[in-house]
Amino acid sequence: MSRSAPLDQDVSGIVRMTTGVPVSEGSERVTVSSVPISRESVVSVNSAVDVEAAWLDRLVVAACEMPVAEGETAIVQFMVRSLGEIFPDCGVGACLVPPAPDAPVSSPDMRPAPVPVEQQLFKYIPEGEERRGVGMDPTRLFPGFAYERVLNVDEASTLHLATDDPELEDEDSPMMHVVRRAALAMGRGLGLARGHAKATSDARDLRALNSHMVQAEKLASLGQIAAGVVHELNNPLTSIVAYTDWLTRKQVQTPGGGDPDSLERLRRIGESASRILRFTRDLVTYARPSSEVPVPVSLHTVIEQALAFCEHVLAQHGAQVQRRFVESVPAVRGMHEQLIQVFVNLFTNACHAMPGEGGELIVRTEVSPDSLRLVVYVEDNGHGIAGDQLTQIFAPFFTTKVDGRGTGLGLSIVKNIMDNHGAEIRAERADNGGARFILSFPVQV
Ligand SMILES: Nc1ncnc2c1ncn2[C@@H]1O[C@H](COP(=O)(O)OP(=O)(O)OP(=O)(O)O)[C@@H](O)[C@H]1O
Ligand SMILES: [Mg+2]
Repeated sequence: MSRSAPLDQDVSGIVRMTTGVPVSEGSERVTVSSVPISRESVVSVNSAVDVEAAWLDRLVVAACEMPVAEGETAIVQFMVRSLGEIFPDCGVGACLVPPAPDAPVSSPDMRPAPVPVEQQLFKYIPEGEERRGVGMDPTRLFPGFAYERVLNVDEASTLHLATDDPELEDEDSPMMHVVRRAALAMGRGLGLARGHAKATSDARDLRALNSHMVQAEKLASLGQIAAGVVHELNNPLTSIVAYTDWLTRKQVQTPGGGDPDSLERLRRIGESASRILRFTRDLVTYARPSSEVPVPVSLHTVIEQALAFCEHVLAQHGAQVQRRFVESVPAVRGMHEQLIQVFVNLFTNACHAMPGEGGELIVRTEVSPDSLRLVVYVEDNGHGIAGDQLTQIFAPFFTTKVDGRGTGLGLSIVKNIMDNHGAEIRAERADNGGARFILSFPVQV
């Protein structure tokens, strides 16, 4: 047998020897158990077979040195190279078929769509025998050799050994003995490499999750501070409203019924102060921990309050709000503040997706034909949501907002609140390319 050497893989997937690495060629042989060997590594000693000690040595070293941390491809390349070093006159190859990744659920019947997996081929060909590795037929990697054995490595990947030596046909031959164990080792190596890759990606996700949590925590405490500040505004605003009222009455009591200009100004001051007062009171109620007691709620009132909270962000995007409310709306049973939170999140997201100017927000309500559900449509003219993200957006920490501008918690909280109300929410593409959220609430009977 000629000497073997480390391998390179060229673009055609053919692995070639480059420099010489010696393998001991001693004639020492050891007697080992013969077939069968199971995937669970159970060896039953039916008969004995003499195998070159150097082959076993090399296989043991290869099994111990598999580059698990470098991934599946590295494992297969390494094992093909090692087997090529053990059998330098043979063609050694592998077909790696990675496990299918989890497919996103996209079809309406919630069945995952099939994801195509790409197979990779690896070939080692003895030096000077390159032409024998050219070509393939559906079952063989090395049609140029007289014999080729294909061994399963896992569910889909295979290990190939090709030679002109008829010994390969013999299940009990030393060669088959070594190849079977190499396939077993490769299978184990692939399993470990996949486990390692999964653990690394889980650790990465965990780190990302942690930084999102920190951001969410920061925003929550900022919200508490803001609610405290708003609460402090209550007293001065109450004074403004009361003194405006007093000044108005004084003006009216003056001879001639008071100066009309001054009265008009006082009316405007009083009206603006009352409006801010109402807003701060609503905001403080909203920020207070929810009472968790469901009561009959008018969704139109909830929507109006949420729109009032979002006035600033709507104005920032020059957004026009269209209300297309059904005439008489049945009450739904729910938690008032939580439902406001649903719409505040939806309106804020809509604003973030809108163009800088000319934003449009349409809020439509309708009662289902059987009168059992109240349906709310929230539609905007923003950039919309990509088809494959229409379900993902409700997952915690899913965000497309960069630079930490979003925590990705908004819609997962919305979904949670909807679930608690026995209500449903889904997103779709609006006719104008924007996003449309459809919320369906059971009405109170
Ligand atoms: N109206 C919308 N138009 C376009 N994309 C939207 C809309 N609403 C939600 N999205 C998409 O859904 C993602 C998740 O929304 P979600 O409210 O959960 O998180 P977020 O807005 O990114 O962060 P935050 O936690 O600050 O709300 C958004 O990042 C965005 O990609
Ligand atoms: Mg959001």
